[in-house]
Amino acid sequence: MRTRPLRVIQWTTGNVGRRSLRAIIGRPDLELVGVYAHSPDKVGVDAAELAGLTEPTGITATDDVDALIALRPDACCYNPLWPDVDELVRLLEAGINVCSSAAWITGGKQTPQDLDRIRAACERGRSTIYGSGAHPGISNLVGLVLSGCCERVDEIRITESVDCSTYESAATQQAMGFGKDPDTPGLAESVRQESAVFAEAAALMADAIGAQLDRMTFDVTFTPATGDSDLGFMRIPAGTVAGVYGYHRGWVGDRNVVSVGFNWIMGSHVTPPKPLEHGHVIQVFGVPNMRTVLHCLPPKDWSEPFMELGMIYTAMPVTNAVPAVVAAEPGILTLKDLPPVTGRFAG
Ligand SMILES: NC(=O)c1ccc[n+]([C@@H]2O[C@H](COP(=O)([O-])OP(=O)(O)OC[C@H]3O[C@@H](n4cnc5c(N)ncnc54)[C@H](OP(=O)(O)O)[C@@H]3O)[C@@H](O)[C@H]2O)c1
Repeated sequence: MRTRPLRVIQWTTGNVGRRSLRAIIGRPDLELVGVYAHSPDKVGVDAAELAGLTEPTGITATDDVDALIALRPDACCYNPLWPDVDELVRLLEAGINVCSSAAWITGGKQTPQDLDRIRAACERGRSTIYGSGAHPGISNLVGLVLSGCCERVDEIRITESVDCSTYESAATQQAMGFGKDPDTPGLAESVRQESAVFAEAAALMADAIGAQLDRMTFDVTFTPATGDSDLGFMRIPAGTVAGVYGYHRGWVGDRNVVSVGFNWIMGSHVTPPKPLEHGHVIQVFGVPNMRTVLHCLPPKDWSEPFMELGMIYTAMPVTNAVPAVVAAEPGILTLKDLPPVTGRFAG
């Protein structure tokens, strides 16, 4: 039995990170010991302020990585816009377990050299890296759970089917093609690369159901906006990409065994190729077919913007995993390796 709270640092406090930070501050079994700030104007700011809380924590954000490592934290909740292998290696080799929402499910999209560096850092630091989130993350896990109802599984297909207009991460949205000329040369390939973490999730699902994939493919349809939209944090001019519908697919011969994708729109001037379902559509085809749609909905007393719920939905599968990840053997830990990661009773 552990007798002390786990010492945790929060890496960046953007949309996802500030919800993680808030959760860490609120949990008796986790102790916030440090916060990393990428943005210079957040350095020196109290964690409570960054998390939108009123009571100061006494922990201020810093961009001094050595100082954070010197705090000897047990874990880091890692939610930067772009993950950085050098950062991950530094944390892991210092013995800090990393729980990430930042484009990490298995590490499969990394170069073999970078993956070797990560594995070696885990070995040196006796530490573990784990990635999750909403999609990829929980959506894939639910697909795997539903496949457990089947006598035979032909395909698991996971689709995030949402309007992203209130997800204020312009860099993420632009990386997915939004606001660009749909005829931009290489756009589909660039979106494939930027969304490669979904291919990691597809490969993980295939592995879990015992399918040995021959190959992965990616297909995408860009739908142009019929009018201008100003979303505040970015503009979607008429004629530019306002709908992105695509899948990373894993194949065994001519059989599409796993598909992880998205039906995303931005702004009101677009009709996607398939109607939106406003959630994560989980389909298992086989005997029997299983289907559910995960909706992330506000509780009765919710007064914050709706999208904050989506950020909690993304952050918590990562932050809630901290105790299990700290307890795990060193190395790369994936969604299918852990027992269910649960939330905490608000008693
Ligand atoms: N699996 C899922 O379900 C899911 C869903 C949504 C997002 N995500 C991933 O979660 C991560 C965080 O998403 P988010 O919406 O919170 O992102 P975000 O708010 O756009 O950015 C997160 C933080 O990254 C830092 N940052 C800004 N520019 C950066 C750069 N050029 N390089 C490195 N860091 C930079 C900033 O740190 P400061 O806090 O210091 O300003 C920013 O607040 C992303 O990697 C995103 O792809 C996963």
